[in-house]
Amino acid sequence: MKTIGILTGGGDCPGLNAVIRAVVRRASSRGRRVLGIRKGWKGMIQGDTVELTLTTTSGILHRGGTILGTSRTNPYKKPEDLKKVEENFGVLGIDALIAVGGEDTLGVAARLAAAGHPVVGVPKTIDNDLSGTDVTFGFDTAVSIAVDAADRLHTTAESHDRVIVLEVMGRHAGWIALHTGIAGGADYILVPERPVDVSAVCDAIRSRRARGKNFSIIVAAEGAVLPEGAVTKEVEKDAFGHVLLGGIGERLAKEIEKRTGFETRSVALGHVQRGGSPTAYDRMLATRYGLLAADMVEDGKFGMMAALTGGRFGPVPLADAVAQLKTVDGPLLDLASAFFG
Ligand code: F6P
Repeated sequence: MKTIGILTGGGDCPGLNAVIRAVVRRASSRGRRVLGIRKGWKGMIQGDTVELTLTTTSGILHRGGTILGTSRTNPYKKPEDLKKVEENFGVLGIDALIAVGGEDTLGVAARLAAAGHPVVGVPKTIDNDLSGTDVTFGFDTAVSIAVDAADRLHTTAESHDRVIVLEVMGRHAGWIALHTGIAGGADYILVPERPVDVSAVCDAIRSRRARGKNFSIIVAAEGAVLPEGAVTKEVEKDAFGHVLLGGIGERLAKEIEKRTGFETRSVALGHVQRGGSPTAYDRMLATRYGLLAADMVEDGKFGMMAALTGGRFGPVPLADAVAQLKTVDGPLLDLASAFFG
C-alpha cells in the first residue's frame, strides 16, 4: 500500500485542517495510507508521525489551526537535520510527501524536490504573498476578521473624535492591509511595498476633518516601513531569517497625535487574524487544494504546487512559486489611493 506523508509548516492558518481532511478523503478512497508528520519539517527530522484516517480527520473541517501542529524549522540550517529528513523518507516508508506551507516551508519542499524527493506543495499563508497562485487559503479569513475589527473601530473612533490606527499582519506584502483598508473604509492604507509618508497620512487626516468628518481609521501592515526603518519586536531572526515585526501602529499613532493634535489610538490585531474557524471561502479553497494535491501525488506531479490561476485549479512548478514573493503592485495601490485624503 502506498503511503502519503503530509505536514503543515510555518505560521498556522485557518483552513489547514480542511486540506488534511481532503487529502485523507481522496487518498483513502484509492486505498492509500496517510501519515501525518507532526510540527512541520521538525517532524521529518525527528520521525514524529501520526496515522491519519477517515475517523481521526472527521469533524476537523471547521477547526482553525492544524491538528498536526506546526513549526518554523528549517532543515537546511544543519547538514545533520537535512540528512535525517532525506533518510526519513525511506525509514517512514513515505512514497510521496505533501508539504502545506508558505514561502519558507515550500522553499524547503522545492529544494527537496529538486534533489529528487517526491514532494508536492500546497499554498498556505494569511499574507497571500505566494507567487504561482491567485490566492492562498487563510487570507480570506484574516481579511474578514480585520474588516470586522475596522467596522468596530469606526463606531468607537467616531464617538470619541479619534484617529485609530489598525495594525494588521503582512510581513513583506500589504494584501491584508489593502483589502482590509478598502473593504473597511479606511482613510489611509500603509503597506510594505511603499515607504510610509507620515506627512501625507497627517494631511489626509486633516483634510477629512476640514470636510467635517470627526474621526479617521488608518490601516497599517506590520511590515510597512517608516523613514527610520521597519518596526520590529525582536532583533533575533527565526530559522528562515525573519525578524518578528510589530509595533508600527503604536509608533504611528504617537506621531500622528504629535503632528495633528488629534487624539489617536492604535490596535494591533496580531494572531487574532490567524486563529479560529476558516470562512466558507477558505474551507472551499483549502479543500480544492487538498483534493488536487492528492491527485498530483497519484499522477507523480512532484516538484509542483497545487494552485489556482485565472480561476482554474492545476499544478504549477514549486520553484516558480517560491522564486519571489507576490507583492501588491503599483496600479492596485493607486486604486486604493482614490480613498485617501
Ligand atoms: O507569515 C504569516 C505571519 O502571520 C506574518 O504575517 C507574521 O509576520 C508572522 O507570521 C508572525 O509570526 P509568528 O507566528 O512567529 O508570530
